[in-house]
Amino acid sequence: MSRPHLMQSRSGPETVIDGVTYLYFGGTSYLGIQSRDEVVAAGCAALEKYGLHTGTSRAGYGTSDPLLDIERRAAEFFGTEDAFYFGSGYVANHVMVGALGDADLILVDEGAHFCVREAARLGGGEVVTFKHRDPADLKRLSARGGKVLVMADAVGPSSGTLAPVAEYLAALDGLEATLLLDDAHGFGVLGPDGRGLLDALGLWENTNGGAAVGGVEIAVCGTLAKALGGFGGIVPGTREFVGRARRSSHYFDGASPQPPAITAAAARALEIVMAEPELRTRLRANTLRLRAGLRELGLSAPETETAQFGVTVGDTDQMRGIHQALKEHGILLPFVPAYSGIPREGVLRFAVTPAHTDAQIDRLLSELGSLL
Ligand SMILES: Cc1ncc(COP(=O)(O)O)c(C=O)c1O
Repeated sequence: MSRPHLMQSRSGPETVIDGVTYLYFGGTSYLGIQSRDEVVAAGCAALEKYGLHTGTSRAGYGTSDPLLDIERRAAEFFGTEDAFYFGSGYVANHVMVGALGDADLILVDEGAHFCVREAARLGGGEVVTFKHRDPADLKRLSARGGKVLVMADAVGPSSGTLAPVAEYLAALDGLEATLLLDDAHGFGVLGPDGRGLLDALGLWENTNGGAAVGGVEIAVCGTLAKALGGFGGIVPGTREFVGRARRSSHYFDGASPQPPAITAAAARALEIVMAEPELRTRLRANTLRLRAGLRELGLSAPETETAQFGVTVGDTDQMRGIHQALKEHGILLPFVPAYSGIPREGVLRFAVTPAHTDAQIDRLLSELGSLL
C-alpha cells in the first residue's frame, strides 16, 4: 500500500494536506460543521469531565448523559420516537440486519458499499447480488419467494446517484419483503427536513417501524459522520423498532460505547444542524452552481441534489492528469480509481459544503475548464 496522505488541519474549504494548504473539494463533511469551534469545545468539555471513555458497557454503568442527549436530539432531528447511536456508520447495516430478523433470500445491489455487502452475510439466508440500481433484475431474482431482504445504498458514496426506490417497491409488491437502505450520504442533505432520500420521496413516515408500502417494509440506517457533522452510526425509528435495533447484537452490553467526548461533540453538531436550516439551503445552492458550471464545460453531472457526485472525464489517465494538474494549482479534487458503485475507469469526485464560496467554486470550474 502506498504511503497515506496526511491531513494536518481541520477539514474545510481550505485544508492542509501533506504540508500544503489546498482548496479542498473532497471528503464527506457535507454541511461543513464537524470542524466548528463549538463542536470541538463540546468534545473538549466532555473529555475533561469523563476522561477518554466510561470503561464499561451501556448495560453496565457506561450510559453517560451525552449518550442520552444525542439519542434524544437525533430522535428530534429525524422526527421519530427514539434513535439508537452506536460505533460507526460502517456497522449500521450489521445492526439493521440483526434487527430485521433472518430472511430466506438477501438481495444486495452489486454496487452497494462494502459495509452493506459484508453485513448481508449476517442475514441468515442465501445472499445474491442484483445488477446495480436495476429494478428489473431485482424483480426477476425476488420471484424466488420466501422472506426477502433487499439491501442497497440510498445514495452512491462516490457517484451521487440515487436508489430507484419507487421502482424497487413496485418490483417487490406483494412479496414478503423488506427494503433496507444505507443513507449515509443522504442524511442531513436530502428531503424537506434533511432526513435523507426517503424524506425526499415522501416515505419517511413509512420507515423504521412505519406502515409498509404495498406490503413492503422500509428500513434505513446511516451515520452522523458525514453531513450531520458528528460521528457514529444512527438508527432512528419508532420506540419498538429502535428497541429491536438496540437488542439486535450485544453492542449494548458487550462493547464500550462511543466515548462521551465524541458523543457530546456530535450532539452539538446535530444541534447546529437543527438551528441552522440555512446550511442546507446554501449547500443546495452550491451543488447546483457546481453542477451547472460542469455542464457548461460539457461534462455530465448527475441530476441529483446530493452534496457529492462523481464525473467520469475521458479515461483513467486523463482523470489522474486532471487531478494532478489541479493539485499543482492548489486545488484538491480527488480522483477515485475504484470504489463501490462507480464506473470501471473511476471518477473525479466532487464534494461541496455550505462553507465554499461562489468564488472558490468558480475557481475550480475555471481551472478545470482550462484542462479539458
Ligand atoms: C454508504 C456508506 N455507508 C457507511 C459508511 C461508513 O460510515 P462511517 O464513516 O460513519 O463509518 C460509508 C462511508 O464511507 C458509506 O459510504
